[in-house]
Amino acid sequence: MTPGSRAPAVELDGVVAGYYADQPVLQGLSLSCAGGEVTALLGPNGAGKSTALRVISGLLAPASGRVLVLGEDVTGRSAHEIARLGLAFLPQGRSTFPELSVEHNLMLGAWTLPRRERRAALERIYDRYPALLEHRKAPAARLSGGQQRLLEISRALVADPKVVVVDEPSVGLSPILAERSYEELSRLREDGRTVVLVDQNVRPAVALADYIYSLRRGTAERAGRPRELASDLSELVREWLGVVEAGGRR
Ligand SMILES: Nc1ncnc2c1ncn2[C@@H]1O[C@H](COP(=O)(O)OP(=O)(O)O)[C@@H](O)[C@H]1O
Ligand SMILES: [Mg+2]
Repeated sequence: MTPGSRAPAVELDGVVAGYYADQPVLQGLSLSCAGGEVTALLGPNGAGKSTALRVISGLLAPASGRVLVLGEDVTGRSAHEIARLGLAFLPQGRSTFPELSVEHNLMLGAWTLPRRERRAALERIYDRYPALLEHRKAPAARLSGGQQRLLEISRALVADPKVVVVDEPSVGLSPILAERSYEELSRLREDGRTVVLVDQNVRPAVALADYIYSLRRGTAERAGRPRELASDLSELVREWLGVVEAGGRR
């Protein structure tokens, strides 16, 4: 189940992890996310997708198995250490601080950088998203929905991560904002970054992804390029129906 020929940027090898010792959520999950590609983890609610991202980001230590980020064994290392290697985690839902200024929010993404590099890092973000420059002194709460989303993505990008881990990029967004969110993820790949994406909205994730794992009950049930999985996927989506499509439409 090894995707492509590019070196993997993220690997899980037989990972067992969960929140209670006697009830592992991930039950020997193995996967490999190739560098420079978008890998999507799909599956029904409760399959363990978000848990897998927590393990990759170092927010949850596995009970057994190995986690590798950019070729380095990071099993049991803290989220801070993994972030310093060049991995940014974009959690589900609003992750900005509404009462802090746009610039202050961006600064929170720059902490892994040496102090003298932080200003230049912010300038790169302002070049990329002029709307954030324009509102840099305003509280984040004052931004439009679309600008808030850009701020969230930008905060993950300030430190110029090689790997961006994203949980549910479109949940709670209008269709237009959801589409922009996927466009930004596609842009991350154009930058040469690796994206690991968890999504309950199967269609846009399949359209974006280079490689897909379908998770069920904490293991990878199927894996492949979207084209290879096409017929499997429509079958899977039908199985998840009620969970996936109803959850996505709202
Ligand atoms: N913080 C937590 N504490 C205890 N159980 C949790 C926690 N987060 C998730 N779970 C449980 O772990 C299982 C997998 O959850 P999750 O990884 O969030 O699934 P998914 O993202 O695929 O919907 C679910 O049964 C869920 O109830
Ligand atoms: Mg989840």
